[in-house]
Amino acid sequence: MKKLFIQTYGCQMNLADSEEMAAHLFTRGYMPTEQLEEADLVLVNTCTVRDHAEHRALSFLGRLRQWKREKSGRRIIFAGCAAQRLGQQLKKTFPYLDIVSGAREIDQFAQLLDKSGFLSDAPGGQPVQKGITGYVTIMRGCDFACSYCIVPTVRGPVKCLPSAEILQQAAKKASQGYPEIMLLGQTVNAWHEDGKTFADLLNEVSALPGVARVRFVSPHPAFITPQFLDGIKSNTKIARHIHLPAQSGSSKVLQEMKRGYTREILLDKIHALKQIGFSISTDLIVGFPTETQEDFEQTLSLVEQAGFSAAYCFKYSPRQGTPAAEMKLLDEKILEQRLDILLNKVRGLAEAAYQQQMGRTVEVLLETPNKGRTGEDFWIQTQKSYTVGSVVQTEVTASDGTLLFTRD
Ligand code: SAH
Ligand code: SF4
Ligand code: F3S
Repeated sequence: MKKLFIQTYGCQMNLADSEEMAAHLFTRGYMPTEQLEEADLVLVNTCTVRDHAEHRALSFLGRLRQWKREKSGRRIIFAGCAAQRLGQQLKKTFPYLDIVSGAREIDQFAQLLDKSGFLSDAPGGQPVQKGITGYVTIMRGCDFACSYCIVPTVRGPVKCLPSAEILQQAAKKASQGYPEIMLLGQTVNAWHEDGKTFADLLNEVSALPGVARVRFVSPHPAFITPQFLDGIKSNTKIARHIHLPAQSGSSKVLQEMKRGYTREILLDKIHALKQIGFSISTDLIVGFPTETQEDFEQTLSLVEQAGFSAAYCFKYSPRQGTPAAEMKLLDEKILEQRLDILLNKVRGLAEAAYQQQMGRTVEVLLETPNKGRTGEDFWIQTQKSYTVGSVVQTEVTASDGTLLFTRD
């Protein structure tokens, strides 16, 4: 049997796409390997959200030149968002590439493989089961047009998967031993279907046999509405953590980013989420072209006011074809300084958030016999041992800033 090595860059949507592409390869004579040296085929699934992400994927591809030379019959598939952006011209720079398959072509991936002619008919392997979380893609693409972002270009407009298919996928994951289901999409909470809302879908997934907890990523603040919160507030299987990208704390910059909300609207939504027990993490961009020192300070103060449990901070990276790429860039030194200051600010967030869990009764989904995560997404260690995948209620009695501890 031939061996497949997968290298994935980018977001969780890309991880799920890699799983989907790998499934097609597993029915065509391949089995997974974690060792590049023993692989016959490498699938590189790429990201282009920032220049740095694309650069990493391309430099890995550069290194594969030598890998391919070392043994005859080796093959390379370059897929995902950078593949979508750069297209077939990649084969000119990297003539040893066998297949280029952009993120928008995932539905045709199986056909592309069958056309390529180098795949064997031998039965293949199974994916390696890792962890307790099963990923289910519920929508693809993005209908927003944030002025800095390349995702709508490389992923295309929104396509929601039918709820029947989503429920079938989630049920399958649960029966395979994934008690936690993570619903995925670039603007996951934009999901809708005639007569069915995203809240309805979350409730239906959580009611499936074997599902202990449901999470979702990445939501857009636009769809955090009172109706949504009403629809989920009594369902404790919906984990009380949300990764809600804020991007900036300045209403002026948010407007220029075309995010569709102001600082005040965002803070109201954050407040409403907290009222029903959510912990909130976020993404922030520093150095958007029009960001003044004052705007940047607004981002710093947002971090304080919102009480995020974690924040991923990025330096603005111009992406070809986006409106913001036409604007004059700020000095790189300013970007570096601001990133430094922001990183210092967010450094203590997780620790403080862990401390705030002291004394609370929390619900833990066990990932090992005595370690798991709470619904609010904090790691916790229990004294007693439990069955992996079960949910227990327990009280937090100590915290070391990265891990919570319990009395029993
Ligand atoms: N769909 C999600 C996020 C997608 S991209 C959302 O709308 O929130 C993931 C993160 O990358 C974004 O939240 C943003 O913080 C960051 N990002 C996107 N484009 C960027 C750019 N051009 N430069 C720097 N960071 C960027
Ligand atoms: Fe990009 Fe904005 Fe769409 Fe998120 S909502 S993927 S940041 S365009
Ligand atoms: Fe990157 Fe594509 Fe995800 S650009 S962040 S892998 S949608």
